[in-house]
Amino acid sequence: MSLDVKTHYPLQPHNTFAIECYADTFIEIASPEDLGGVVQRYNGGPFLVLGGGSNLLFDQSQIHTPVLWANLKGIELLETRDNEVIVRAMAGENWHEFVQWCLQRDYGGLENLSLIPGSVGAAPVQNIGAYGVEVKDTLYQVEAFNLSDGTIRHFSAEECQFAYRDSFFKHAGGSQWIIVSVSFRLSRHDHQLKLDYGAIRTTLEAAQIISPTIRDVSEAVVAIRRERLPDPRQTPNAGSFFKNPITDRQAYEQLIRRNPEMPCFELADGQVKIPAGWLIEQCGWKGGQLGNAAVHEQHALVLVNLGGATGDEIMALAGEIQNDVKLRFGVMLELEVNPSSRATPS
Ligand code: EPU
Repeated sequence: MSLDVKTHYPLQPHNTFAIECYADTFIEIASPEDLGGVVQRYNGGPFLVLGGGSNLLFDQSQIHTPVLWANLKGIELLETRDNEVIVRAMAGENWHEFVQWCLQRDYGGLENLSLIPGSVGAAPVQNIGAYGVEVKDTLYQVEAFNLSDGTIRHFSAEECQFAYRDSFFKHAGGSQWIIVSVSFRLSRHDHQLKLDYGAIRTTLEAAQIISPTIRDVSEAVVAIRRERLPDPRQTPNAGSFFKNPITDRQAYEQLIRRNPEMPCFELADGQVKIPAGWLIEQCGWKGGQLGNAAVHEQHALVLVNLGGATGDEIMALAGEIQNDVKLRFGVMLELEVNPSSRATPS
C-alpha cells in the first residue's frame, strides 16, 4: 500500500490549542505497513510525531520536518490472569475512550485518569497523571517502532524510565521511536481505589456514594475536571502549561518561611512539589491576558487561546509569567507542553 502524503496540510484541527500552522509534509500512519514506507522514503528522519496534539504548542507557522500522525486503531484483551488482565490499545486510540472501554469491562486502574485529552500513544511519553495516579502505575509494556532502522522493540515500564511528566521518549535517544501500542496490567476485581487526592472523596460523599465502584470514581474525576479545567473544544488549551516545580528541602524551608500559606506536597525522597498554579495566582496572573493569550480564570496553570492566538503570543505570556514567578519566589517554572520548535530542527 502506498503512503498517504499530504502537502501544505493545516494542523489547526490537530492541536487542542487551535493554533494555525501548516505542515510542509503530513503523513497519516494508519497501518504498521505505513511505518516501513516512511523509513524507506525518508531515510530515518527526523520527524515530528503527532498524537492527539493535546500537549503541544505550535510556535512556528510552518513545520518543515515531515509530520507523522500516529493514527493506528484497535483495543484488545491480551491475557486474563487470576485478578488481572493485560489490555493493549493502539497508539491512535483516544485516551478517554480507552479508559471508558476498560471501565465498561470492569477493568480497574485507569479510572483516576478519566477525561485526560490526547491519544494512548502520547500517554507514556509524558507519563500523564492526575488525582494521585500516573500512567506508569499500570503500564505493562510499550511497543515502539524505530524510525531510523525499522525495528520494533518492547519497552518494559522500567525501560521507559518514568518520572514526573517525563520518560525515555522525551529525551535524545527517544526521538527516533514512534509508539505503536501500549499495554496495561489492570485489575479484574478487588480494585484498589485511590480516593485521597483532591476532591474525589468529597465529590463521592456529596453524591451519597458510600461504596464506590471504579465507574463512580471515574464519574467523580470527570465532574471535578469539568468544573475546574476548560474544555479544549470551547476554550482551546493544552492542560497544565507548566510543571509543578520540585524543590529541595532547603529551598522549600526558605519559601515556606516567607509564605506560610503556600500549599505543598511532600515527596518520598524528601523533596517538595509546589503547585505552580498557586505561584502564578499569587503573582496576579489568574485571568490575566496578553494579546489573544490568557490565563484561565478558574485555574492559573492553564493558558488558553482566546481566539486567533499565535504560538509566539502564548509563549510571550508564558515568558512574562516565568519572569514574575522567578522574581517573586526565586523559582523557575518549566514548560509542561512541548513547543514544536524544540521538537524539530529549524
Ligand atoms: N492552585 C491555586 N490556584 C490555581 C490553581 C491551583 O492556588 O489557580 C493550587 C491550589 O492550592 C490547589 C493546588 O494548586 O490545591 C493544586 O491544584 P490542582 O489540584 O488543580 O492540581 P495541579 O497541581 O494544578 C496537577 C496536574 C494536572 C492534574 C491535576 C489533578 C501537573 C503539571 N498538573 O495539576 O494535570 O489534572 O494535578 O491531579 O502536574 C495536565 O498535566 O495537563 C494536567 C491537567
